[in-house]
Amino acid sequence: MATPSPADLIKADQEHLIHPLHHPMDHSEPLIFVKGRGAVVTDVQGREYLDGLAGLWNVNVGHGREELAQAAERQMRELAYFSNYVGSSNIPAITLADRLIGLAYKTMQAVFFTCGGAESNESAFKTARFYWKAKGKPDKVKIIARREGYHGVTGQAMSATGMAPYWKMFEPRVPGFLHIQPPYAYRFQGAKPGETVGQAAARELEEAILREGQDTVAAFIAEPIIGGGGVIVPPDDYFPRIREICTKHQVLFIADEVITGFCRTGQWFALTHWGVEPDIMSFAKGVTSGYLPLGGIMVNREIKDAIDTVPPDSRWMHAYTYSGHPACCAVGLKNVEIMERERLWENAARMGTRLFQGLKQTFGDHPHVGDIRGGKGLLAAVELVADRATKATFPAEQKVGPRVQAEMIKRGVATRTRGESVFFAPPLVITDAQVDRLIAVARDAVKAVLGV
Ligand SMILES: Cc1ncc(COP(=O)(O)O)c(C=O)c1O
Repeated sequence: MATPSPADLIKADQEHLIHPLHHPMDHSEPLIFVKGRGAVVTDVQGREYLDGLAGLWNVNVGHGREELAQAAERQMRELAYFSNYVGSSNIPAITLADRLIGLAYKTMQAVFFTCGGAESNESAFKTARFYWKAKGKPDKVKIIARREGYHGVTGQAMSATGMAPYWKMFEPRVPGFLHIQPPYAYRFQGAKPGETVGQAAARELEEAILREGQDTVAAFIAEPIIGGGGVIVPPDDYFPRIREICTKHQVLFIADEVITGFCRTGQWFALTHWGVEPDIMSFAKGVTSGYLPLGGIMVNREIKDAIDTVPPDSRWMHAYTYSGHPACCAVGLKNVEIMERERLWENAARMGTRLFQGLKQTFGDHPHVGDIRGGKGLLAAVELVADRATKATFPAEQKVGPRVQAEMIKRGVATRTRGESVFFAPPLVITDAQVDRLIAVARDAVKAVLGV
């Protein structure tokens, strides 16, 4: 069968494929990607792009790893699938769970596998409620999340996600989810005199728990560094205080490490930067570097004990057909092996510093750059503003963010923007020269759109 032409592919796509966040206005000239190697992807026209966002913040070990393809093939030939429901198991799922517990926070005791981030957070919320019911506190059901947080878009995950455009056409949201301010230093409102942004943002959590009643709150969920909501890096005093508040008020702390896990921030998992440990951790993306879909939650010993000691008719009645999928777990194992062998957290830290310093040098005095965020591995953003003094944003109809993104694509760098924040989260194998190119292309693209 002859390969269809790019024009035929685009026509079939537009007629028959619905994309995430679909609107035809944003899909008139889709790029069709056909190949990837390292930090570079190639489209159907043969044009190459530096992958500025590691696919969707997930291709941590880079594109084109033969070993991962071989791991999937070997496992599929041996045993592609069998149920992992209670009473049966498989070797890759057992081995990967054991491996991950060895790599994660020392409080983590057991893993439940999912197929992605939203399923992981759904599992985390249900497990938090389960835990409190098992402990005789059935009214502890509410989940506190944060504005600008992104936790996926299935029912509960969407309700935890703190961005209204994700809700608008799908309301009503699941009841019992509420939002507080994130520690977004550049735009935080309401710190008291003498209070740091980290302290004030953490105070909002304590106030919300007290307002709602601690006996009604099951958990607080936070990304260690907010990803899709703007790459918001918290001040150092935030998470230690959050941990204290959660412990004090008996609220479980769920860390959504879907982006920040698996070496992205220069550590295996990001709360290590602040010496803090969660009760439940969600992961996905980097666990397989996107080669096959996989995610999961890890839970601490108390939660595992609760799962193990309830009577059978109160069991943890939660499941997915593909939980512990053998081929996905085999790829996860090989992926983790590559990260360890190549010590990818070290390159993430080194290149992350180069990226952050380079962005500060390039954009520090720029009249339309309000904030430059980064400094923890390969996760950074540049926030453009209409007026640096007032921090006023550009009118939405000027589409400054999307235009910068398009200018970057023209210059051979693929990344994404939210509002006027331009994101940088390349594969962890990126080189010095490629980091420098990301920055130079961002500078030229901003100049092309704003004239400076
Ligand atoms: C922090 C975070 N949590 C959850 C999700 C949802 O993951 P998925 O798209 O695999 O459902 C994402 C996706 O970008 C994410 O960034």
